[in-house]
Amino acid sequence: MVEVYEFWTMIISLVVVKLCHWIYKWRNPTSNGKLPPGSMGFPIIGETLEFMKPHDAFQLPTFLTRKILRYGPVFRTSLFGAKVIISADMGLNMEVAKTNHAPGAPKSLARLFGENNLFVQSRESHKHVRNLTTLFLGSQGLRLSMIQSIDSLARTHMEVGAKNGGLDVKETTSKILIECLAKKVMGDMEADAAKELTHCWRYFPRGWFRFSWNIPGNGVYHMLKARKQMMDLLKETVLKKRESGEQFEEFFKIIFGEIEGGSKTMNIEEAIEYVFTLFVLANETTPAVLAATVKLINDNPKVKQELRREHERIFRDKTEKDEADLTWEDYKSMTFTQMVINESLRISSTVPTMLRMVEHDFHVGDYTIPAGWIFMGFPSVHFNPEMYEDPLAFNPWRWEGKDLRGILSRTYMPFGVGSRLCVGAEFAKLQMVIFIHHLCRYRWSMKTETTVLRRFILMFPRGSDVQISEDSEVANSSG
Ligand code: HEM
Repeated sequence: MVEVYEFWTMIISLVVVKLCHWIYKWRNPTSNGKLPPGSMGFPIIGETLEFMKPHDAFQLPTFLTRKILRYGPVFRTSLFGAKVIISADMGLNMEVAKTNHAPGAPKSLARLFGENNLFVQSRESHKHVRNLTTLFLGSQGLRLSMIQSIDSLARTHMEVGAKNGGLDVKETTSKILIECLAKKVMGDMEADAAKELTHCWRYFPRGWFRFSWNIPGNGVYHMLKARKQMMDLLKETVLKKRESGEQFEEFFKIIFGEIEGGSKTMNIEEAIEYVFTLFVLANETTPAVLAATVKLINDNPKVKQELRREHERIFRDKTEKDEADLTWEDYKSMTFTQMVINESLRISSTVPTMLRMVEHDFHVGDYTIPAGWIFMGFPSVHFNPEMYEDPLAFNPWRWEGKDLRGILSRTYMPFGVGSRLCVGAEFAKLQMVIFIHHLCRYRWSMKTETTVLRRFILMFPRGSDVQISEDSEVANSSG
């Protein structure tokens, strides 16, 4: 009896010692040098709960400001089960982006995008898909084929909204975006397939950026199920089109090398995964940023008035010239709207916009950032009063006379930096400008209860509804 007791005492003691050792190692990670200061939080969950606390979307999270105050602009932590370095140092962010290429994402995200994803497989495949995307979504592609689709979809959705007395900005933008991309990519889809595709999106926002455990019924489980459904659907559509000899839209022509600039290096599976990546990244960013922008406009009557002036002029000019559709020149002439969007992107970038997996030990000052850690670069310069006077104020006029088409500078990085700079930036800006243009056709206001929070992604707990009614003055001048 005593022997059994001793045996179990020994086993339990061993487990406790092992556990303490593991916890000690977790809290005190080692590197080939001195790690940046910081704390690793609780085993496994690290400091995720604090990091993911919802905060005002137009202010840097308390987690970040508190840590910077304590440790300085570069510190270590643990998030989503991974070891992480967070940096609010612009110079370091630029340097890491230049010398590190692999995207830094927790496993749940990596899983969502798939292991064979050409954006992450190798440098060559990454370069290839970036070039393809630029053919499609660069300014040439936007000017030639996208602007009309976005214009006509935004006009139609806004008309429906006006008839119903209002619309939800985020939801409507998401519909416009998916309809526009799906049409350009897949061409016409069977009605049922198109409906199912939109249905699958329901699961994404909730499952986004979480721990990677895939347990039946949880967010990751639903997300991966929806992913599979979407991939099957897209594949089926492509195969059916191929069998029937039906023409592909420009996008697949580029992918399958049927027109100049394309090359035949992508098989169907890779092509579908690639299309899926574009859909997810587009849908998880632009609609929310646009809804936040509309909220900022709504809360700043002077901005709203100036926008109205700009768009009334365009409606009037078009009526005089007897034109209906928006042209690239019209888009370029919407200077104030672009200032509004630049400002909104600045003030809503309260999230790391540069995520990398550190590939080799990286030395910065006295510190070593170890290979294998995730690096998250916050664009804190957006809130630096030396760069932006009164940085928490939403002031589009601060962009007057500046380069409005640029998407990256040492003081502005809402679309990331380096080899992973967003490829959809111009497309996103075009979509936002056109939406605002059509909104200004109407008398509109956002519901007063609307709030914009961030929990890594932008959230609208009370929706993003605008009430819309026909504006007789604008209606008369736009015919
Ligand atoms: C307002 C809207 C958007 C914002 C704020 C945004 C922001 C970003 C950021 C911060 C990155 C990461 C850059 C890095 O890690 O250094 C990124 C990458 C990316 N974005 Fe966007 N994005 C937007 C819209 C879009 C759209 C509409 C698309 C596609 C149609 C898109 C496609 C991509 C892709 C494919 C990447 C990965 C690029 C690569 O790995 O080479 N984004 N975006």
